[in-house]
Amino acid sequence: MKKIAIFASGSGSNAQNIIEYFNESTTARVDIVLTNRKDAYVLERAKNLNVPSHVFNKVEFYQTNQIIDILANNKIDLIVLAGFLWLVPSNIIQQYPNRIINIHPALLPLYGGKGMFGQAVHQAAIANKELFSGITIHYVNEQYDSGDVILQVKCNIDTEDTADTLAEKVHVLEYKHFPETIEKIIKSI
Ligand code: GAR
Repeated sequence: MKKIAIFASGSGSNAQNIIEYFNESTTARVDIVLTNRKDAYVLERAKNLNVPSHVFNKVEFYQTNQIIDILANNKIDLIVLAGFLWLVPSNIIQQYPNRIINIHPALLPLYGGKGMFGQAVHQAAIANKELFSGITIHYVNEQYDSGDVILQVKCNIDTEDTADTLAEKVHVLEYKHFPETIEKIIKSI
């Protein structure tokens, strides 16, 4: 049984979906949820699903080995970023080569980079009158949103779409494809 750590900064609906998916799996399970925000709703979701969680601050993340130690103590095989908004420091990336993946709510390289998350991404795609958006699942490297792409899936942007309705379409794609992609990667480890 492989072990997954999820990093999330916000609501955590993807985190919940991934936890529930792997609750039914014999391949892997979500062992721990880590967050940089003590008020993140993902903590509530993890608690309700009996998954341990850990909150860390900037100093702990960027200037200590605390997170690496937690990952090592839990024997984590794969790190999944699900709405996690901080750049992952190079000591963690070097410890987990090709073992950290992220989901981005657009078709990278479009609408990626620092500050591009959640609603800001959808607003930008609509403002630019894009006909499509979608999801990108990719490996994480030392820059925002620029690691090798694993999977992209498109959805239409209709003239009546708002950032909220586009976010809903993107979430549907995320809920379907993110756990399946994680499972494929886990099976190849
Ligand atoms: C997701 O749509 C994810 O793709 C996005 O944040 C949302 C988190 O939703 N991630 C980024 O924008 C990363 N740059 P959730 O907390 O409900 O899973």
